[in-house]
Amino acid sequence: RQRVENNGAYPESIALVLWGTDNIKTYGESLAQVMLMVGVIPMPDALGRVNKLEIISLEDLGRPRIDVVVNCSGVFRDLFVNQMNLLDRAVKLAAEQDEPYEMNYVRKHAVEQAEELGLSIRDAATRIFSNASGSYSSNVNLAVENSSWNDESQLQDMYLNRKSFAFNSDTPGAGMETKTEIFKSALSKVDVTFQNLDSSEISLTDVSHYFDSDPTKLVAGVRKDGKMPSSFIADTTTANAQVRSLSETVRLDSRTKLLNPKWYEGMLASGYEGTREIQKRLNNTLGWSATSGQVDNWVYEDANDVYMKDPEMQKRLMETNPNSFRKMVANFLEANGRGYWETSDENIERLRNLYMEVEDRIEGVEN
Ligand code: BEZ
Ligand code: MG
Repeated sequence: RQRVENNGAYPESIALVLWGTDNIKTYGESLAQVMLMVGVIPMPDALGRVNKLEIISLEDLGRPRIDVVVNCSGVFRDLFVNQMNLLDRAVKLAAEQDEPYEMNYVRKHAVEQAEELGLSIRDAATRIFSNASGSYSSNVNLAVENSSWNDESQLQDMYLNRKSFAFNSDTPGAGMETKTEIFKSALSKVDVTFQNLDSSEISLTDVSHYFDSDPTKLVAGVRKDGKMPSSFIADTTTANAQVRSLSETVRLDSRTKLLNPKWYEGMLASGYEGTREIQKRLNNTLGWSATSGQVDNWVYEDANDVYMKDPEMQKRLMETNPNSFRKMVANFLEANGRGYWETSDENIERLRNLYMEVEDRIEGVEN
């Protein structure tokens, strides 16, 4: 049984991410997590099709029903409409149980939201969100890759606007409906954000889609007390599943790739594409700072030591891929400028000089 504990107390609500490919590979691992959080069991009908639901009694559950905000990828929405239907019905079933609020946070929140937003409890218990039909991603990854944002609230607005379409099992065939107010109000109750890693091949900084899915600072922004939620990543790459904090998982990921000589020497040996891979990891690290603030200062400091301090390394990066090298230098300056990395004036001075150097080199200016 999935149990995510928060300083000894149960979180009242967990925002979690559902991806399509992951659920194919794991036979629905994260679907099961949602079901268990709200305390509902999916049941097969006489033909073996899983389309019925049964409530788990509080006695059997042995803990409160935990509320959820389910952030489905666009791919998940395309692949798993029946499963979205099942999840929506599961949450609504939990919300409609006549149980004490302190044992049923789904109901507690839905009742509060029904009051605030003038909705029925059933409609207020809308928790299965994704993009509009035909749309994918929050595009926070594109904004981070292009450095085309001024402050974090712009990234959070993108997430809110693009990911706040809800599936409603009570309106068959209606498709995804825009429900930004309910989405915001559900997120404002969240204590924990959570994503799954199901493969050791692709981890947090390998692709930009993980931080693109992450609503951690958005939750802090919409909570009434402004409190940052705790963030967890489940590593289910082996049978021995582990739940770690997001910051710990970022540390592990940095040590195995960006800061690991075996990894970056291999990348550098493979030529210009390898250098681009290194730059991508750094950019995705910056993305995690922007969406969650869970990147330790030393990750940037050590990466700067590895890639920017050593003249021999500078030369190798410059020669294999000057454009990616320029982006790396810019990423370090950006991490400092946005307040994600505090470092010495000496380091910043070196980066500024390197930036000018590599730009001259790219533009063909002779020194
Ligand atoms: C998905 O399978 O849901 C997915 C695939 C690529 C990027 C993000 C999500
Ligand atoms: Mg997507």
